[in-house]
Amino acid sequence: MHPSFNLCSAIDSQLSNLSVGLEGFGPDFEPQTRVADERFGDFQANGALPHAKKTGQNPRVLAQRLVDALPPSNDWKVDLSGPGFINFSASPELLLQWGLSHGSENELNKSAKTGNAKVIAVDFSSPNTAKQMHVGHIRSTLIGECISRMLTFRGHKVIRDNHLGDWGTQFGILLLAIEEEKVSLDDLGDDPVARLEDLYRLGNSRIKESEVALSKARAHLVKLQDGDPYSLSLWEKIRDLSMESFEQIYRLLGANFDHALGESFYRDKVDLVYEALSRHQICQEDDGALVVFHPDHKRFAKQPFIIRKSDGASNYATTDLATLSFRQAEWKCDQIIYVTDGRQRDHFEQLFLTARKWFQAEGRELPELSHVWFGTILGEDNKAIKTRDGQPIKLIDLLEEAIRRAGVMVRQKNSEIPNNEVERRAKIIGLGAVRYADLSQDRTLDYVFSWDKLLAMQGNTAPYLQYAVARIFSIFRKLNRDPSQPTQSPRPPQTEAERKLARKLLLFPMALDQATRELKPHFLCTYLYELATEFSSFYNQDKVMVDEVKTQELRLQLCSQTLHTLKTGLFLLGIETLEEM
Ligand code: ARG
Repeated sequence: MHPSFNLCSAIDSQLSNLSVGLEGFGPDFEPQTRVADERFGDFQANGALPHAKKTGQNPRVLAQRLVDALPPSNDWKVDLSGPGFINFSASPELLLQWGLSHGSENELNKSAKTGNAKVIAVDFSSPNTAKQMHVGHIRSTLIGECISRMLTFRGHKVIRDNHLGDWGTQFGILLLAIEEEKVSLDDLGDDPVARLEDLYRLGNSRIKESEVALSKARAHLVKLQDGDPYSLSLWEKIRDLSMESFEQIYRLLGANFDHALGESFYRDKVDLVYEALSRHQICQEDDGALVVFHPDHKRFAKQPFIIRKSDGASNYATTDLATLSFRQAEWKCDQIIYVTDGRQRDHFEQLFLTARKWFQAEGRELPELSHVWFGTILGEDNKAIKTRDGQPIKLIDLLEEAIRRAGVMVRQKNSEIPNNEVERRAKIIGLGAVRYADLSQDRTLDYVFSWDKLLAMQGNTAPYLQYAVARIFSIFRKLNRDPSQPTQSPRPPQTEAERKLARKLLLFPMALDQATRELKPHFLCTYLYELATEFSSFYNQDKVMVDEVKTQELRLQLCSQTLHTLKTGLFLLGIETLEEM
């Protein structure tokens, strides 16, 4: 027997199929099976209630009819409770069988593959060149990487695209400052991107003070846009320098991209957008600009989506329309996911509405469009996180500080290990902690960044989960066993602690499902935290090293299954683990 990966949806489809021939049910009946409150069992189907209400029947009678139609099975104990809830409790044999067939990272990975694979573009990180990545960009990178990993794990074809902000008016200003300051781009000092940012600020104040500077900046921009080779070579150099500094961070964070088709890639594709939207009468002239209104929308009936500025220049909106069209035409995307902060919600809502009209007019299939937005990281004063002198915090500084602090922790615990091992562990713990602090919160909420909280060994933190992993490794070391080798004829779980842990392990697919469906990593984090806690009570209650062989084998089986589930989950979050901490 190889029980299904997701037992909750297996029960749901069984009930759904059974209901087809049954009196009182109809094609719109949904069993609504979910994870049950532990007191009632493992899964609970509640669909008889709303269906009975809608059709004026007795819910308990309906539920009983479904229960009677179930073929006899040793896998489940089934009973009715309340006004018509159907409760399913997995038998000890089923818990054991499920564990044996989903106990390794490989098996989990294989079972998680969906039968309905899609092509999904994930647009994430997307910093702006000539500017440093700041802490605001960390969320897009971490959430986007995690979502990409989860979708890949489910078997989708994921295309990761870093939509760099590498084109636009800022380059006119920057080129002006470079010229006026007689700066050589080969000699920008230790932190070239910081220097470029300073130059941009300088240029910006110049154009505010002087009309001459302003028209010079405009002339620089026109030259660049017209393809003047010298201006282009400067722009390219700026892009390369920026990319180098971003890549340093991506390497630290283990973030990967298939493409970095920035805004500049679409600069010769924006005319197509004006042309198409005008031809289909989706846009209109407004004070010299080209704009789109959505008369059926309460705000966007009046608030325009500007797709060409009055000076004729394209903007963020134009590029995003061109990008969307390109991704659909070239990559045949079924879905596009955009990961940005919540302040861009209006932009994406207008973009999606406009794209729907455009694609409809041309009979093109519009991919599913999802804006995955997130809140702000706050300092301990509850305001957007800043350095002491009020500057935005630089991402690289934050990550280095996390590693430094983790290094102190590791050294305190292990006075005897060599420095390079301290460094290796510090990196895994420090970066894991920052990452987990970010992913474990509902992404739509703001959260307070606190060093003490995120590095704590207790509570819902990465170090706590990494410690659970290291502890399981040490159990196997003590017994001189290998956690990836199969156990020898374990007995089914019997004690309360065994049963509770086995049940928690069984729920991994549902947590993964919810995190992937809602594109919210915190559901996975919450599950892993609960699993580690359940493991900890199991370990306190039931000794692993016992004389009874089959009992010891089961307990080792539960240990190794917990280990592999934790490792798989942490991998999906982008967090590495250690055999010793
Ligand atoms: N560069 C933008 C920023 O830093 C994010 C781009 C997001 N992606 C997109 N297709 N608009 O805010």
